[in-house]
Amino acid sequence: FHLDIDPAQTDKGAYPYYMLKEIDEQAVVARTLAGHYFNDEGEIVGIGCAIGDTIKQADRLYIIAAGTSYHAGLVGKRYFENWANIPTEVHIASEFAYDQPLLSEHPFFIFLSQSGETADSREVLDNIKRQGFPTLTIANVMNSTLTREADFALPVLAGPEIAVASTKAYTAQIIVQAILAYSLGEVELDLKQELAKVAVEIQAITDEKATFQAIAESALKDQHSAFYIGRGLDAAVALEAALKLKEISYIQTEGFAAGELKHGTISLIEEGTPVFALLTQAKTAGLLRGEVAQVAARGANTITISSKSLARPDDAYVLPEVDELLMPLLAVIPAQLIAYYATLARGLDVDRPRNLAKSVTVQ
Ligand code: AGP
Repeated sequence: FHLDIDPAQTDKGAYPYYMLKEIDEQAVVARTLAGHYFNDEGEIVGIGCAIGDTIKQADRLYIIAAGTSYHAGLVGKRYFENWANIPTEVHIASEFAYDQPLLSEHPFFIFLSQSGETADSREVLDNIKRQGFPTLTIANVMNSTLTREADFALPVLAGPEIAVASTKAYTAQIIVQAILAYSLGEVELDLKQELAKVAVEIQAITDEKATFQAIAESALKDQHSAFYIGRGLDAAVALEAALKLKEISYIQTEGFAAGELKHGTISLIEEGTPVFALLTQAKTAGLLRGEVAQVAARGANTITISSKSLARPDDAYVLPEVDELLMPLLAVIPAQLIAYYATLARGLDVDRPRNLAKSVTVQ
């Protein structure tokens, strides 16, 4: 497929790797999206009414994606359920394609993809179109198969993402899902204003690279395995945080629902095993603190990344606070930077990890 990339936009500039440049671009992307999808009066303008009308006829949403985009869907689900009040399922494309669950009577399908060319996702889109159900693609590359062949398409406007490890497309997909869900419901929150805050806070976090370089180099030095744990939305971000670290540093990393550790996996914890805890959700913060203590009691080196109102003095990093449902946009930034610096410390190619392609166009 043809990917029309503007050379000016794809130059690394002063950056050593595209991944670091793309991590840094996330604050601007958040601002761009707020500017694109909202007008000066705070009304949503970038989503055609046909999309909203069609979704409102649905009794269930099915989000289909792969890899990082799948992880973005796990976050997006919360917006469609909490803000638009639509039951929402999130499925791995390669599983859904050959193991389709029993569908609701009036399903609506959302495909999330950076490239718009992922074969697993295209396979599902073909199946779903044959069954006559409505489809929307949310993607970064707008002249792509998934955007052309779906009934509707919405851009995530992240600009060309060159590094194999997806960063700005992940946060951009989460933001567009939030805006779409917000357009479908009556929500207290002023999302345009909150996204402006998100952009400011992403910038503040990416300005603290030395902190994350130190964490990566101390916690992951000579380590062959690591964990990211969390509950609720933080468990969803833990999956993405783990993928970032493992796919470029080759450290075997699991993203895990913290409450599930005691059902077996905790046996893997050894003296010094790095366990990163993402703690931004008030409802389960107490439970997660307990789980962190449990793994620490078994010798783990625990690194807790918490949001300000839930923080404790010995947490490794305290995140600024935005609406709790939007905290994944902030919690993922340290994980992206920790993955970057752990990989750099190992002398590996951050942008081109072994055996991986930027877009998996084969099944
Ligand atoms: C994530 O860092 C990887 N590059 C990979 O998991 C990617 O997210 C996945 O292949 C899906 O690609 P897409 O978003 O282009 O569909």
